[in-house]
Amino acid sequence: MSTAKSTIHHSQLPPADRFRTPVYTKWQINRLEKIVSIFGFDYFRGKTVLELACGHGHIGGQFRTVLGATVVFAEGRAEHLPYIRANNPGADVFQLNQEFEWSLGRRFDAIIHFGVTYHLVNWQQDLRCAMEHSGLVIYETEVTDSLSPTQVRRFKDPQGFDQALNDASWGSRPSAKFIENEIVQNGGTFVRYDDSALNAGAHIYDWPETGSADQIPDENYSYKTELGKRRFWVIRC
Ligand SMILES: C[S@@+](CC[C@H](N)C(=O)[O-])C[C@H]1O[C@@H](n2cnc3c(N)ncnc32)[C@H](O)[C@@H]1O
Repeated sequence: MSTAKSTIHHSQLPPADRFRTPVYTKWQINRLEKIVSIFGFDYFRGKTVLELACGHGHIGGQFRTVLGATVVFAEGRAEHLPYIRANNPGADVFQLNQEFEWSLGRRFDAIIHFGVTYHLVNWQQDLRCAMEHSGLVIYETEVTDSLSPTQVRRFKDPQGFDQALNDASWGSRPSAKFIENEIVQNGGTFVRYDDSALNAGAHIYDWPETGSADQIPDENYSYKTELGKRRFWVIRC
């Protein structure tokens, strides 16, 4: 893979919007660059990709315009759909609330599943649904720094355009081990990338697991506890 060819420049990205702050942009680019470094620049050309909880569709937009994929965009918030369409003319765009079991009646060559698990209560069901729709799920989320394979912390998200959609604004941060066990139980395998190249602003991927959350009583767990500790996986299923 040529590094020059694989670089996704800021100038190639669509115009500013609510998902176009400096941190969002850096975060999007770093994750895209990571995907290109793993798969190569041409891997997704001509392939079908589903981007879930896509915000305004910037990451999927790069898959279309730079990597040559056919991208279908799903997002839970109706208010984001016009922006996704404006950023991705002619693309298939629809509303999907991942809090509920979902089935689209078709499969994709790859699924982008970024930044939404921690906005869901029913995160295990949603992970299973995603794995049923593709042999390749690229998955990232905030997690709890816990060594327990069953630890999941529920917390109240702040309200906001990029936060939880459910009425009560509840989200979940499972431990990385919990997520990995679910992947295996669903019949998948995974590679995890604890890579500093993914870091952007408060979003950190190369932190060492300490199990510190195992020491925090649930009643003291808040939205801000461990904010920013994330993990990134390539799942094969
Ligand atoms: C933190 S943003 C991440 C955006 C983008 N995926 C990324 O990683 O850059 C979370 C996104 O998930 C969406 N979202 C929140 N709850 C959702 C749900 N239950 N179903 C689908 N999308 C949801 C939000 O509207 C928002 O676009």
